[in-house]
Amino acid sequence: MASTLIRGGKVVTAAQTQDADVLIEGELIKEVRPGIPASAAGRVVEAGGLYVLPGGIDAHTHLDMPFGGTTSSDDFETGTRAAAYGGTTTLVDFAIQPRGTRMRQALDTWWRKAEGRSCIDYGLHMIITDLGGAGLEDMDEMVREGVASFKLFMAYPNVLMVDDATIFKALAQTAKNGALICMHAENGSVIDVLVARALAEGKTAPVYHALTRPPRAEAEAVHRAIALAEIAGAPVYIVHLSSEDALNEVREARDRGVPAYAETCPQYLLLSVEELERPGFEGAKYVFTPPLRPKEHQPKLWEGLKHDHLQVVSTDHCPFCFEDQKVLGKGDFTKIPNGGPGIENRLQLLYHHGVNAGQLSLNRFVELTSTTPARLFGMYPRKGEIAPGSDADLVLWDPRAPHTISAKTHHMRVDYSMFEGFQVRGNARRVFSRGELIVDGERFLGQPGRGRYLKRVTHGGAWK
Ligand code: URP
Ligand code: ZN
Ligand code: ZN
Repeated sequence: MASTLIRGGKVVTAAQTQDADVLIEGELIKEVRPGIPASAAGRVVEAGGLYVLPGGIDAHTHLDMPFGGTTSSDDFETGTRAAAYGGTTTLVDFAIQPRGTRMRQALDTWWRKAEGRSCIDYGLHMIITDLGGAGLEDMDEMVREGVASFKLFMAYPNVLMVDDATIFKALAQTAKNGALICMHAENGSVIDVLVARALAEGKTAPVYHALTRPPRAEAEAVHRAIALAEIAGAPVYIVHLSSEDALNEVREARDRGVPAYAETCPQYLLLSVEELERPGFEGAKYVFTPPLRPKEHQPKLWEGLKHDHLQVVSTDHCPFCFEDQKVLGKGDFTKIPNGGPGIENRLQLLYHHGVNAGQLSLNRFVELTSTTPARLFGMYPRKGEIAPGSDADLVLWDPRAPHTISAKTHHMRVDYSMFEGFQVRGNARRVFSRGELIVDGERFLGQPGRGRYLKRVTHGGAWK
């Protein structure tokens, strides 16, 4: 069995930082301690001056997803390769149940998209659009297949949105089967009225996407989602939380001991609504939901990360090219495909603006980007940990490496970067996935299709 010794690095987990060597045997971590002899392994990788981190876990991506009359531009090959370059070794993507169909069909469809393409390990959430017929049984079947989480939409009426009765039934089912509901929390019905009003007034530019989706519409939905979860006796996880208003709802619930969890994304921490006012329709590059908020929300979200009111940073990577996809909404902001790219830049941005800026400890950085997503989504301790028996998904992180983010050099299949010109310090130098070196500097060594589907486990009611 192939063995590798990673020698002389600083091993950083959510719980501790220590000078230690890591011995990999086959796909797993065998030993973590200082002073493992070089003779223990067939290959030695020197990691002096580097951090050894558990591979990043992005719990929210949309690869090869049909949406807004087109399909997200990264598929499972290009998207997972870009993720790996950025130090992410696991992702959880979303299968979508078309209305009137069985969830099994959607799962098969997404397995086919990923099979032969994914360069890293992946799990799938199931987006529920319809609980009629055998929906509740389907949820249990999905859990048996390792789909330990579901996403429901309180927005996008007539497309993905479900009503409160459906939300409540799904939550009640997870109270029994132990899965976790991820909620897209925005009041879609109210937003639709605001959108119709804006269009009637001739307000068609990209910025009206943001102005018709106010923070209170997010906060109201977060409040409702948590209340419904409480009635059902189930936990709930709010996805892509963007505003102070919404954050206050999560904090208030958690202070009462409710198992409510939430993620935010780098775009909400670092960008603001002004981006949508860029001239030449460039604002369309920043059209995603929930929208970017006024700058004042950003420090509140950083505080939320510090104090565990927010538990996860994911990307909501949903790329559409500017030239031939975002342009579909020229003259009508409602036709701009909603979504933005970011799968490659999550660790760089959070490390630089979090750790370097003194907002997050190194251990908290690891917790937010790897360990907590592994725990919440049923992959821990196989993923998200550096310990004997865990998968050898490891990132050798160079804390001094300068990097300028740009569409000219990124590996995502999209013609722009939301963070164009951002200068960061700290980057992945080498990336191992189940013991295999898949990124070595600029060289990609992994093969498409080597990534495996992860059968995730539920918590069976063991929420805090
Ligand atoms: O605009 C976004 N966020 N697109 C992806 C779909 C979603 O709501 O997560
Ligand atoms: Zn969403
Ligand atoms: Zn999303």
